[in-house]
Amino acid sequence: MTSPRIVPRLRAAEPGWFARADVVIIGSGVAGLTAAIQARQSGLSVMIVTKSVVNDGSTRWAQGGIAAALDPDDSPDAHWKDTVVAGAGLCDPDAVRILVSEGPDAIRRLIARGARFDTTDDGEIALTREGGHHRDRIAHAGGDATGAEISRALVDAVANDSGIELIEHALVLDLLQDATGAAQGVTLHVMGEGQRDGVGAVLAPAVILATGGIGQVFSQSTNPRVATGDGIALALRAGAVVADVEFVQFHPTVLYVGPNAEGQQPLISEAVRGEGAVLVHDDGNRIMQGVHPLADLAPRDVVAKAIMRHMMTSKVPHVWLDARAIGDEWPVRFPSIFESLAQHGIDPRTALIPVAPAQHYHSGGVRTDLYGRTSVPGLFACGEVACTGVHGANRLASNSLLEGLVFAERIGAVLAAGLPERRPFVARTATSRVLDDELRLMLQYAMTEGVGVLRSRESILRTLKVLEPIADSDLDITACTETWELTNLHAVSTALALGALTREETRGSHWREDFPESRSEWLKRVCLRADRDGVLSISFETVPQVPNMKEVL
Ligand code: SIN
Repeated sequence: MTSPRIVPRLRAAEPGWFARADVVIIGSGVAGLTAAIQARQSGLSVMIVTKSVVNDGSTRWAQGGIAAALDPDDSPDAHWKDTVVAGAGLCDPDAVRILVSEGPDAIRRLIARGARFDTTDDGEIALTREGGHHRDRIAHAGGDATGAEISRALVDAVANDSGIELIEHALVLDLLQDATGAAQGVTLHVMGEGQRDGVGAVLAPAVILATGGIGQVFSQSTNPRVATGDGIALALRAGAVVADVEFVQFHPTVLYVGPNAEGQQPLISEAVRGEGAVLVHDDGNRIMQGVHPLADLAPRDVVAKAIMRHMMTSKVPHVWLDARAIGDEWPVRFPSIFESLAQHGIDPRTALIPVAPAQHYHSGGVRTDLYGRTSVPGLFACGEVACTGVHGANRLASNSLLEGLVFAERIGAVLAAGLPERRPFVARTATSRVLDDELRLMLQYAMTEGVGVLRSRESILRTLKVLEPIADSDLDITACTETWELTNLHAVSTALALGALTREETRGSHWREDFPESRSEWLKRVCLRADRDGVLSISFETVPQVPNMKEVL
């Protein structure tokens, strides 16, 4: 096999306009907006660049909620244990400690900024349970519209700040770097009709990636259309290290709408199981009973694997979620899911729900330290695009909004201590190209088939064989949103496939048919980096192990 490679730089017109800010943030979900608010507290000027409209990222779609030890009977310690157990040996224990101990106050600050969580009759925050948690610790809003409420509160908080400029309908292209390689801004393409139209550049000595997920790499995902891995692809082209990219979480209960479904699929929140729903076979028998002590609320990878095993052995396209026990509470507790099921002709009070696993979350991403700093000076990452080390091999349910909040705040602390130096950027000489968007379906199909839930050396190599010629598909292809996106999808897919090929074991959400066990020599992170020609190289990072892990378990 030749070394997998990605396009080293996107082909695009020279910038036709320039703007300046202290900090440019790419993405407007919970992580991006929180980072913006924090940077403003230090008096910095902020520009937020977002691909669609401000609330159109993954945050808005988050249903279940946000996890934190908010109950007096709960503790950050208990949350820490559940997180590292779900992460299957690859969580960074210090990063998790930060997440769980700073999380509760970060949520209180979110509430102070206007987010309204559901409360009990006593006025306390109502808490529910999801997979892998041994306690009720998931705060939710609007029943099952937690992300939408958090997004609303943060959008309101930034809207009236004249120190924050928002550029919508703007696809980020590449990082601008100075002679030392440090970040000095980004190039971007704006689909507008105003002054800032077409390709331009935002010059800023601090660049924060908060671009969210990679769902469109696969044929079916719960992620919105905009989730094309733009942040990871940009970081790779800029020479940044990415890590844990092989760990892709497949959500066990995504509504099955038919064999040819493509793109964003309706999620049935794990909180539905938290309120008593159970997974059953065609014959009505429980799937998860006897498989794990937490049964239907086992960590997500355990449930997804049990479902996939059943689907493969019984040759059925889906299993069933029996949520009839929720009864008349359905429209009140889960109004958005109830509505989405109604659109598919399903009344969950009386009927079973057909579900199957689909791509949901990327646990890996651009490697950062505990303050969101990547390996490229001046380039930060937070939220799903980042690999802080908190998720390890499998993210614990509802830790993602929390991670976005906590680590965005920590980037704010770095910026408060001093902005990186502003220096002129230098033109990059790397070959620039774009790839043919006609190949998008082929790429998604190859990734789903070869690097999806179940993988083997053979299946991954098959996928890499499809990806390799796609890298050469630039001929007279027009540079435009679709071809830039496909070039990004190709970069992410290639890195993901290489990471999955490298990790010869089964751990967390990485399931290798040919290496069905976890192996102690793989208690390390797979890190990838692209050279100036886009050729990917592999290195390994030691993962600090939790002392007395057996006692934790
Ligand atoms: C869900 O509501 O099931 C998704 C929550 C998550 O991904 O953390």
